[in-house]
Amino acid sequence: MLTLLSIFLALSASPSLCDRPQPHVVHPLRPQTGFSSRPNVYAVSCLSWRLAVETDNIRNWDVVPKECEGYVGNYMLGRQYRMDSATVANAAIEYAKGLKVSRRDAWVFDIDETSLSNLPYYAANGFGTMPYNATSFSAWTLEGRLPVLPETHRLYQELLRFGIKVIFLTGRAQDQTSITVANLKRGGYHTWHKLILKGTPYSGETALLYKSTVRTKLEKSGYRIVGNIGDQWSDLLGPTPGNRTFKVPDPMYYLG
Ligand SMILES: *[C@@H]1O[C@H](CO)[C@@H](O)[C@H](O)[C@H]1NC(C)=O
Ligand SMILES: *[C@@H]1O[C@H](CO)[C@@H](O)[C@H](O)[C@H]1NC(C)=O
Ligand SMILES: [Mg+2]
Repeated sequence: MLTLLSIFLALSASPSLCDRPQPHVVHPLRPQTGFSSRPNVYAVSCLSWRLAVETDNIRNWDVVPKECEGYVGNYMLGRQYRMDSATVANAAIEYAKGLKVSRRDAWVFDIDETSLSNLPYYAANGFGTMPYNATSFSAWTLEGRLPVLPETHRLYQELLRFGIKVIFLTGRAQDQTSITVANLKRGGYHTWHKLILKGTPYSGETALLYKSTVRTKLEKSGYRIVGNIGDQWSDLLGPTPGNRTFKVPDPMYYLG
């Protein structure tokens, strides 16, 4: 704090800075916690919580904090989620444009909250503030009515145009293959090179171990994973993550 203060004072004393118009006054960092004299300092800032979730600083969380239900709901249903998703897709497309594509090149897509969206289910169930209910979630999945995430779909179309092979890799169990195929097609994903669902050898394994093991096998069999997109860090971490990874926002649940 002392150092910051002296830098601030030094800057203020500099004549060259004072002569110029200064749009922003630089203050040393002020304490913002309970020690602050400012009123209305919340224990949980939902924006800070979401940022920490997206950056993988907070892990293994069970449910969205109750006080953030409204915040997460507004984020997911409002424009920001779509704008954030578009930013991810645009960055991925820019990267893909620069690739010298070969026949071995593949791009791994996660499905839930990446290619298709469970937002209608979560909107009806507290936006992640309620504990996971396998019964009702599975019933919703089996309806096969997940809407498409339009930004990821745009990336998918561009990659096909560039000649990159699309591989869907999902934590959904293999007994959900036909409804998953139907829902992907209904969402506008009409073709793919591979669709890999979680088989019994991996049941009980973490998403991270399952997905990274499958990716390693893909690379050993000759594919080059040039890109990998998912809403969970467990889609993107571990061995053979792919040359570049892209994280789609998801403040509603955590899968390790
Ligand atoms: C889970 O969902 C089912 C089906 O909607 C419901 O009957 C059940 O009460 C729910 N379980 C809990 C713990 O909320
Ligand atoms: C992708 O990663 C592999 C292995 O890490 C490397 O050999 C290859 O050069 C990379 N390709 C590109 C296009 O960066
Ligand atoms: Mg997912």
